[in-house]
Amino acid sequence: MRIIVVDNYEEMSKRAALMVASQVTLKPDSVLGLATGDTPSGMYKELIKLYNKKEVDFKEVRTFNLDEYYGLNPENSQSYYKYMMNNLFNSINISTKNINMPDGMAKDVDDFCSLYEKKIKTLGGIDMQVLGIGGNGHIGFNEPNINFEAQTHLVNLDEQTIEANSRFFKSIEYVPVKAISMGIKTIMNSKKIILLANGLNKAEAIEKAVKGKINPSIPASILQLHNDVTIIIDKEAASLL
Ligand code: PGA
Repeated sequence: MRIIVVDNYEEMSKRAALMVASQVTLKPDSVLGLATGDTPSGMYKELIKLYNKKEVDFKEVRTFNLDEYYGLNPENSQSYYKYMMNNLFNSINISTKNINMPDGMAKDVDDFCSLYEKKIKTLGGIDMQVLGIGGNGHIGFNEPNINFEAQTHLVNLDEQTIEANSRFFKSIEYVPVKAISMGIKTIMNSKKIILLANGLNKAEAIEKAVKGKINPSIPASILQLHNDVTIIIDKEAASLL
């Protein structure tokens, strides 16, 4: 694991955007694994700036998102589909046909999940996966005590996650209790991984993920076994290392 500690959120976002842009420059048809949440939104802003300066071109890029709430229509303002459109896709030249998101409205979820996995494989696997981390150590929506062997599947959200994400909803009762998420195995099969974290509320999860035992109670700890992980964190998130 390579750990880069930066001064603040802005620096984290810039460093991460440069890594993604370099990946796309080296391989214009890269398959990117993308994350949602507050953590990567600054990185997306920086990528849009680089795109506007013609320093990166997304014409051939293919993307797969990590997760989506189950039961939320893509048009719902809190869907991750909307997040991606608003935070990145509407502002760059990615082709709609190259965007892949878990379908929160899938009728046959198992069928959808196996097709998602198949499509990732058919495109040659994920070249670079961007991850945030939950305060409980989750990556994607792989909550504590997840099966490390799982691929894309339907998950029950942890109470801590529902509580944390309720800030985006009218009230906690509106937060979906299930989601479709890439599994740990899907994430571990990515060729490169970048994990971002900022703020004191992520310090404990980062400490356990980086220095703790590899244990399903901290899903991100499995990343210790991946051979190309870069962790970009601000001083606060690094404060317990
Ligand atoms: P956040 O979420 O970026 O909104 O803090 C991260 C996560 O839960 O994975």
